[in-house]
Amino acid sequence: MIALVVNGTRHDVDVPADKPLLWVLREDLNIVGPKFGCGVAACGACTVHVDGQAVRSCSLPVGEAAGKAVTTIEGLGNGRLHAVQRAWIEEQVPQCGYCQPGFIMATAALLRDKPRPTDADIDEALTNICRCGTYSAVRRAVHRAAAIIGGAS
Ligand code: FES
Ligand code: FES
Repeated sequence: MIALVVNGTRHDVDVPADKPLLWVLREDLNIVGPKFGCGVAACGACTVHVDGQAVRSCSLPVGEAAGKAVTTIEGLGNGRLHAVQRAWIEEQVPQCGYCQPGFIMATAALLRDKPRPTDADIDEALTNICRCGTYSAVRRAVHRAAAIIGGAS
């Protein structure tokens, strides 16, 4: 049994310790915001936070998340829209939407570390892949989220 705390709720899951966290979230806990894209830590669609750090959950054995705080997009705003989600809506970023939870989770982690990121910081931190090509809208939304968090709008 592995004890996981996801979005503030404790779950005891009967799974092998090497099962990827993404599959435990999706299959065992029915938390489907994190998406499967590549399965090899390349695309970022599966990004969640583990103890506040952005992590590609397709490549993290669930045993390594035991006892740590896991946050998915479902819990990011704690019942409300997080500033990053608000910025995403205001900038109308998503196209098909599939990759967007990963971008939003990566952005929230970035802004916690760097409240005013430059374009270069954004390019370095957000290595996620979007097949719809929303990259320029993502960049605008990151700056807007930084402004919302900083109280500029
Ligand atoms: S599915 Fe995890 S990085 Fe692509
Ligand atoms: S919005 Fe479609 S893959 Fe990114």
